[in-house]
Amino acid sequence: MSQALPRVTACVFDAYGTLFDINAAAARCKAELGPRWQVLSDLWRQKQLQYTWLRSLMDRYVDFWQVTGDALDYALEASKIDDPDLRRRLMDIYMRLDAYPEARDMLLRLRGGGLKTAILSNGSPGMLEAAVEGAGLSGLFDAVISVDALKVYKPAVAVYRQLPRRMGDKEHRIAFLSANGWDAAAAAAYGFQAIWVNRAGLPWERLDASPAAVIDSLAALPALLRLP
Ligand code: LAC
Repeated sequence: MSQALPRVTACVFDAYGTLFDINAAAARCKAELGPRWQVLSDLWRQKQLQYTWLRSLMDRYVDFWQVTGDALDYALEASKIDDPDLRRRLMDIYMRLDAYPEARDMLLRLRGGGLKTAILSNGSPGMLEAAVEGAGLSGLFDAVISVDALKVYKPAVAVYRQLPRRMGDKEHRIAFLSANGWDAAAAAAYGFQAIWVNRAGLPWERLDASPAAVIDSLAALPALLRLP
């Protein structure tokens, strides 16, 4: 979509899959995993998200590092892989995932244009700190906000509700970016200008909310915001 979002003062980003490449861990272990790496990576992510939703509904919060490890254990067993060293390596890589290549330049352009930037993520504070630092994005965010303080995962309304206060502006001036359609839908339903980063060319989720814009990579964001 090409319409401008003129009133945006702040951009808040989802972390995993939006700024950081969730396929990077399994992809870097391709030598050991062989052609199974993509199936394992997809099941790992699918279970990770399911466990966040299920635990929120069950009122049994554990942090995202624990959820990520549990999801990996499920995915490894389903793939009939019993290899503690490989598990350790995958988790180590997940702690410091690569950022998508366009992320740094995009953040610099937003900040150069006077916009505030932040992360709002399911990630535990330790995971987010390590990811930001490992990807060379330190100093490029006004706030890195984890759901951990609330002990409930997205898309719980409480997670999005804190943003206007944390960013010091109204919902409709805040753009929320996520590559996860359900996350963008929840942010749109709350009243943010949701921008869906549809990297995979998927259909929009049927969740009673529309995105303000759809882009296929974060590289398109500065132009969407009419930044130089
Ligand atoms: C996050 C997950 C949803 O970073 O990608 O919150």
